[in-house]
Amino acid sequence: MPEIASRNHVEKISQVIDEAMEGAGKSFDDMDMIAVTYGPGLVGALLVGVSTAKALAFALDKPPLVPVNHIEGHICANFIEFPDLEPPFVCLIVSGGHSHLVHVKEYGQYEILGRTRDDAAGEAFDKVARTLGGLGYPGGPKIDQLAKVGNPEAVNFPRVYLEKGSLDFSFSGLKSAVLNHINQCKMKDMEIVPRDIAASFQASVVEVMTNKAIMAAKQCGVDKIVLAGGVAANNGLRESLTVEAKKNDFELYYPSLELCTDNAAMIGCAGYYDYLNGVRGGMALNAVPNLKLGVKPEPS
Ligand code: KG4
Ligand code: ZN
Repeated sequence: MPEIASRNHVEKISQVIDEAMEGAGKSFDDMDMIAVTYGPGLVGALLVGVSTAKALAFALDKPPLVPVNHIEGHICANFIEFPDLEPPFVCLIVSGGHSHLVHVKEYGQYEILGRTRDDAAGEAFDKVARTLGGLGYPGGPKIDQLAKVGNPEAVNFPRVYLEKGSLDFSFSGLKSAVLNHINQCKMKDMEIVPRDIAASFQASVVEVMTNKAIMAAKQCGVDKIVLAGGVAANNGLRESLTVEAKKNDFELYYPSLELCTDNAAMIGCAGYYDYLNGVRGGMALNAVPNLKLGVKPEPS
């Protein structure tokens, strides 16, 4: 519901900023710059952030304003967690809005190797949670918990690899398969076991993401695989990639849980690197809902 999301952003933004400043024990005078997400995402929500950042910069007479790509922020969460981590590496960015496999060749230099052709990974987790009923939002962590006590082999959901060698993802077929399974159970009067469905669904997502991440790292000739985004918090994914990375001699990095899901620290970190590279936004800065990775804004 983009309008509701946008309205909630308007209602909450001042409170969130106040809480963040209070939690950090800082005042506006301590701030050197303001970094703000200007894309990709829902335009209404992005505009609230961009307008607020511009208003703050103007009111505090405190440029520079540094526009940040949200996905770059997710990658940067790893630089906060692992200060010694350096490119090149392959990054699997899986969140509620995005599923990308990216070759990070240098700081700020990206090659997108694959992306989802339909739903994002987190979206699939959330939709399946809704189908299972009563799990609330976000559904990812609930499915993750249920999967721990379920049987991943209970239902043989499809593994969607697409064409041979493709590093793209597709999750909508899997989502439909879960729905079909539940409908069939109802028709045949069979018991619906949420924990088994959750475990079997997660096993399918995790297997495909793990294998594609390993394939991407081999293809790029890097020795590091990095996870980012809300779904990087998934225990099944972390465990599976830990095993496969070890087997294939890759080093694996993933941020702590609070840095996986959306947070301001990662945007601040990305903004810092952009700032050092001379990226600046002015009062004409606008939201860019379909912002591409690695594209920097025209000076405004
Ligand atoms: O990165 P994020 O906080 O926001 C976006 O940029 O979208 O990701 C949120 C997504 C939600 O879809 C949520 O269900 C999913 O990440 N998520 C998880 C887990 N924790 C959060 N998915 C699977 N397992 C988890 N443990
Ligand atoms: Zn995010």
